[in-house]
Order: sequence, then C-alpha cells, then structure tokens
Amino acid sequence: MAILGGGVMGETLISGLLRAGWAAQEVVVSERRPERAAELAERYKVRTTTNTEAASSSDTVVLVVKPQDIAGLLAEIAGAVRPDALVVCIAAGITTAFVEERLADGTAVVRVMPNTPALVDQGMAAISAGSHFSAPHLARAEALLAATGKVVEVPEYHQDAVTAISGSGPAYIFYVVEAMIEAGVLLGLPRTTSTELVVQTLYGAATMLRETGEHPTVLRERVTSPGGTTAAAVRQLEDHKVRAAFIGAMEAARDRSRELAAAAREGRNPR
Ligand SMILES: NC(=O)c1ccc[n+]([C@@H]2O[C@H](COP(=O)([O-])OP(=O)(O)OC[C@H]3O[C@@H](n4cnc5c(N)ncnc54)[C@H](OP(=O)(O)O)[C@@H]3O)[C@@H](O)[C@H]2O)c1
Repeated sequence: MAILGGGVMGETLISGLLRAGWAAQEVVVSERRPERAAELAERYKVRTTTNTEAASSSDTVVLVVKPQDIAGLLAEIAGAVRPDALVVCIAAGITTAFVEERLADGTAVVRVMPNTPALVDQGMAAISAGSHFSAPHLARAEALLAATGKVVEVPEYHQDAVTAISGSGPAYIFYVVEAMIEAGVLLGLPRTTSTELVVQTLYGAATMLRETGEHPTVLRERVTSPGGTTAAAVRQLEDHKVRAAFIGAMEAARDRSRELAAAAREGRNPR
C-alpha cells in the first residue's frame, strides 16, 4: 500500500491501517517535505521513499494530496503505476475520469470522500468506482477504508451530495453542540458541566440511532410528551425554521462542492 501525501488525511490512513492490523512493512509513504517524511517514519516505523518508487512497488496507490496538487502528482507517477494496481484518489472534487485520463489505459481507479472522524476510527467514507473497476478492486478499496470506519459505495454523480452530508457533516454537528453548550451556560450551568452533558447526550443519541435502527422521528417522539418540555423546545426550533435552514445549508455545501471541483479540474484557484 503506497500513501502518496502524508498530511492530515494521509497520517489518518496510516495510523488507521496500523491499528487495523496492517504491518508497518506493508505500508510505504511518500511526502514532499523531507522533515514530515522523517516524522512519519519515526512515529509509525513505515518506509518513506519517492512518489515513483512508492507507486511502482505497490498494488494499491492512494493519492492523498490537495486537489490542486493531483495533476502534478499524476504526471510524476503515470509511468510508474503497475498495470494491475488500484489507484485510490481521496482529493475532493477530482473525478475518476480526471485520474484515468492521466494514467495508462485500463488502470483501475476509485474515488473516495472520507470525513475527519476517521481519526478515531469512526469515519464515513463514500467510494465511487471508475470505468475499469472490478470486484477484487472494490474489496481492496473497502479494506483500506474499513480501517478507519464505515464505507458505502455510491454512483459518482452523488459525490457532491456526499460531500455536503458526511464530508462537511461533522462541522454541522460541532456547530449544534457549540450552540447547546452555550445555551447551558446561559441557563446557569458551569461550562464544563454543560459540555459534559451535551457531548454525552450526543454520543448516547448517536448510539441509539445506530443500535436500535429506529427512525429518528420515532426516537424524538418518545422524548416528547404532550405539553412537556421537549415539545416547548421543538416548537421554538420550528418557529425559527431550523429544519429549513439545514436543507438550505446542505444545498449550499453541495453547490460549493460543484464549484470547487470544477476549479480543481481546471487548475484554477477557486474564489
Ligand atoms: N482533512 C480532511 O478532513 C479531508 C476530508 C476529506 C477529503 N480530504 C482530502 O484529502 C486530501 C488531503 O488533505 P489533507 O487535509 O491531508 O491535506 P494536507 O494536510 O495538506 O496533506 C497533503 C500532503 O501532501 C503533500 N504533498 C503535496 N504534493 C505532493 C506531491 N506531489 N508529492 C508528495 N507529497 C505531496 C503536502 O506537502 P506540502 O505541505 O508541502 O504541501 C502535504 O504534506 C485533499 O485532497 C482533501 O480534499 C481531506
């Protein structure tokens, strides 16, 4: 497994693979800045080398650089990627067609949108296959991503929606948590107590959703007794059109994802 680009997401993948039982010798890393490469080698005991050597020595090549650096990286490794290799691209907005056009004909490519909870092995990654993709390739991509959380397969035209929901999603949740903590402080709770109450409530609610498989409406109705406190709070959320704001926010994220993707493919700086 070659990880090309050892930044935030590259390091998340390396540490996830090792925690999932991969041996350090099975992972090779290349990184533009030598001091960063040395740091990763020291921390994870993985081998570090050049982009071309990493690509030619691996059957799975993962591109984890910023979207604007992808074209340059592909130009460098195009001649080195093995014909049977799987190329996994984690750069937001870069299509499988963009990668395929820059590699030898027939190279298997998969595109991935991960999210930051991968750092704690609770990531949500959506993968889309390119045009030369087979079942064993899919299994290989899933094995890589399962190391840091869950994986779903989606048609590539859904990737902007995925970016809006799970890619940016952790930020919306942090925003809600922030608002609830501040509300607790306003109601007179010490900040540490308010934080503990909100974080554990979020964790508990998320665990209930996942473990019971119940629809969120059913779970919410169970805490909403007639004429009670939750009903009074929900009425305020409805009055302030919070549900409509969420829909608008995610449409905006989807539209921005489209704009950024177009800019990345055309090699221009997005405004
Ligand atoms: N972080 C996230 O939450 C997240 C979520 C979803 C998707 N992604 C995607 O993951 C990709 C990486 O994001 P990141 O946050 O990890 O970025 P990052 O921290 O900037 O990491 C990229 C690393 O790759 C290095 N690099 C750039 N060009 C290179 C080249 N040609 N050869 C070798 N190394 C090279 C960079 O070096 P320099 O520092 O010298 O530039 C940097 O260390 C992005 O495309 C992003 O869209 C990230």
